[in-house]
Amino acid sequence: MIVERVGVDDIENLRVRVLRKGTPVTHARYPEDSYPDAVHLAIRERGELCATSTWFSKECPEVPHVPALQLKGMAVDESLQTTGYGRALIDAGLSLARERGAVVVWARARDSALGFYEKCGFIAMGDGFIDEPTNMPHHIVVTRI
Ligand SMILES: CC(C)(COP(=O)(O)OP(=O)(O)OC[C@H]1O[C@@H](n2cnc3c(N)ncnc32)[C@H](O)[C@@H]1OP(=O)(O)O)[C@@H](O)C(=O)NCCC(=O)NCCS
Repeated sequence: MIVERVGVDDIENLRVRVLRKGTPVTHARYPEDSYPDAVHLAIRERGELCATSTWFSKECPEVPHVPALQLKGMAVDESLQTTGYGRALIDAGLSLARERGAVVVWARARDSALGFYEKCGFIAMGDGFIDEPTNMPHHIVVTRI
């Protein structure tokens, strides 16, 4: 699998399809998309983007005062889920985090995806919360690198 860097316009359709499924929301942009150091990672299958996640520097509320990268917008096309694309994105993002000298990588993870993050070496920290716009239960997940 080849992980490439793409523009946010390239991934919005995939984000909406996967991350807004079952909601009336038709957009999936984050304020962090425009952070100067934001990187949008993606993988293609037969030329079409099928997996994406976005990485940027942001302090982790559960592990403050250390250099940290957050990942957001982790989405794999439904037809390809659980076939390794998500882990490939995490591996590439962790390499990026090491290059940038981050000590911690974290995410606001849907509880339905906690098993994925745990398999990738993250642990859930702190109380659960309901995140907008999905209204789904979430936890912060963290890994040290
Ligand atoms: C969650 C998601 C990003 C994971 O990506 P993926 O490509 O499906 O995951 P991978 O195939 O790389 O899985 C890695 C491991 O995690 C497991 N896994 C994947 N999704 C899982 C889930 N939702 N719950 C528990 N385990 C999961 C896989 O079975 C695999 O286990 P293995 O190492 O024993 O074989 C993807 O399934 C997805 O887009 N889901 C819908 C949107 C979503 O929940 N995004 C996350 C928002 S925080």
